[in-house]
Amino acid sequence: MKIIMLGAPGAGKGTQAKKIAAKYGIPHISTGDIFRANIKNNTELGQKAKTYMDKGELVPDELVVDLIMDRFKEADCANGYVLDGFPRTIPQAEALDKALKAQGEAVDFAINVEVPDENIINRMSGRRACVGCGATYHIEFNPTKVEGVCDACGEKLILRDDDKPETVKNRLSVYHEQTQPLIDYYAKADVLAEVDGTQDMEKVFSDIVNVLGA
Ligand code: AP5
Ligand code: MG
Ligand code: ZN
Repeated sequence: MKIIMLGAPGAGKGTQAKKIAAKYGIPHISTGDIFRANIKNNTELGQKAKTYMDKGELVPDELVVDLIMDRFKEADCANGYVLDGFPRTIPQAEALDKALKAQGEAVDFAINVEVPDENIINRMSGRRACVGCGATYHIEFNPTKVEGVCDACGEKLILRDDDKPETVKNRLSVYHEQTQPLIDYYAKADVLAEVDGTQDMEKVFSDIVNVLGA
């Protein structure tokens, strides 16, 4: 099963993609997580990506497309994947379609997690990410058992660099300009499903499972 998560920054793509990956036994591939891992390890790719990410801009398409095409070659992708944060522009979506078509394949579902802009800033300022395993929490909606400590691995939690309110505002406007057109793109391809992302996390997930099939 090949699934794409669409939605504004902070809509809950990562939260839901992790649950989908666990339930359906497919890898969760987040381009944002891959870039953050590269930044942490101070790779050349990480250094390039950071200059864009810190401003809330998109990393150039070529860098992202090459990276994702390499990722697809890994063995765990044989039965599909859930993509979180890719594609994010029409050229990225076209590159994905072209690569899949060459193998006689196509995207099965594009799930748009809908959350209005008003809810986003609040969500982002409360988000905490683990420096060790990348798990995400929310101080109000999904708190850890011990404040500031990851439930899964015990490492400390941080606020992401791009979650400052000014940067979040820019990420939202970049989203509306460059990524929102993908909703139409996948509606035309007849694979779009919309879910209400303002509901609690478990309800959002059960709506997604209804779309994907148990
Ligand atoms: P990326 O890491 O993809 O960030 P994003 O799209 O801005 O999305 P987020 O990860 O911030 O939000 P999310 O939807 O995953 O929400 P989450 O589940 O964490 O990209 C970062 C940057 O990398 C980009 O700006 C760009 O520069 C670059 N990049 C990445 N991919 C790229 C590409 N393809 N092309 C070019 N550049 C690229 O949830 C958010 C918070 O809300 C959490 O605290 C969570 O606990 C909470 N929450 C989740 N669901 C609910 C709920 N139902 N109710 C209440 N709270 C909830
Ligand atoms: Mg995410
Ligand atoms: Zn952790």
